[in-house]
Amino acid sequence: MTAAGQLPGMFGGLELLPPDPILGVSAAFRADPDPGKVDLGVGVYRDEAGNTPVPAAVREAERALLAGQSSKTYVGPAGNPEFNERIVAMALGPLAAGLRERTATIQTVGGCGALRIGAELVRVAAPGAVIHVSDPTWANHEPLVGSSGLSLQRYPYYDSATRGVAFERMLDRLEQLPGGDVVLLHVCCHNPTGADLDRSQWATVAEVLARRGLVPFLDLAYQGFADDLEADVAGLRLVAERVPTLLLAISCSKNFGLYRERAGALAIVAPTAATARALATHQARTARRMYSMPPDHGAAVAARVLGDPGLREAWQAELAVMVARMKAMRALLAGRLAARRPERDFGWLARHRGMFSLLGLDAAAIARLREVEHVYLPPDGRINVAGVSEENVERVADCIVSVLDPR
Ligand SMILES: Cc1ncc(COP(=O)(O)O)c(C=O)c1O
Repeated sequence: MTAAGQLPGMFGGLELLPPDPILGVSAAFRADPDPGKVDLGVGVYRDEAGNTPVPAAVREAERALLAGQSSKTYVGPAGNPEFNERIVAMALGPLAAGLRERTATIQTVGGCGALRIGAELVRVAAPGAVIHVSDPTWANHEPLVGSSGLSLQRYPYYDSATRGVAFERMLDRLEQLPGGDVVLLHVCCHNPTGADLDRSQWATVAEVLARRGLVPFLDLAYQGFADDLEADVAGLRLVAERVPTLLLAISCSKNFGLYRERAGALAIVAPTAATARALATHQARTARRMYSMPPDHGAAVAARVLGDPGLREAWQAELAVMVARMKAMRALLAGRLAARRPERDFGWLARHRGMFSLLGLDAAAIARLREVEHVYLPPDGRINVAGVSEENVERVADCIVSVLDPR
């Protein structure tokens, strides 16, 4: 019986869960009253002032959309067809037209929705397939794709000694996997390591995937965040040229700044047009059974930006500013750390791409940063360089140096 004399009820047996490893850091940060606190944890872009802006081109598209919207009737499980077409064309570029008949695309609830539906469809089609994720990977990958019921394994990816990709070990593992297994790959801005495959490594991976009959599940959450919209997907396109089947999970959260609007897409390329047509019906049924339809607004806005040459150009220019800032903050922090500890190499911090790198700190150091310095990192010691600014870089560098192993 509870204090109020009630029985515990249906849900009374549920225990309190630990906080989400990443969202929990944001909650702890918000609750900290210290004026000098720094959030290096959360996975969103920040400008120099610490804000996560809506790009002006996106706001412009929103205004036009709202002005012309006369109905909010349902959109259908596959979402906005113009969005689906344009977002896949942005990812696949010149390949999109040739693959069109073999591609089934559904608008999803962000990139997470694409990963979840993709895993669900793999389970429906091949319940014995194993999904292989990089070691390490984004903290939500395993929960998202694993909750489909499929088995998960990790392939070697990151070499903490070189702070680069453990490419030989990764390849060795891929060479051993049975055909039909699924390999989840980060297209660019690997989360959490910042270490990406280079072009020749992508070409090798594409060849191994094709030769061994492995199915790539490509997670594209950061197109335009490493270098630019084209360069960032060069590896994806090499893979798409080689393999008969692939899954592509696209997120518009970061590059369009549409985070809370939950805009994304799942494109699946199949060996034949007939299979793609069947797949589209399964995509729609899966969505219908889970949440029926995706939210409209974010995807409609992204479709408008992509469909209007002026807005598209303005948005790309804003994206370039974000990328330049992330690169500048990487170089700045690496320089400040090197100035404090000249015997150590921090060049990797400047070399990594996108928002994230791993500092390689242990749990005690991460706890000390939070409790003593009010600097917040998730439990894996991932740093978001967009949380660094000209204003806080000296303090951030001091704090990091204070928890590095002694000289
Ligand atoms: C690697 C990776 N994949 C997918 C996502 C999904 O993004 P969203 O569902 O917010 O669009 C994220 C977001 O942080 C991510 O980092």
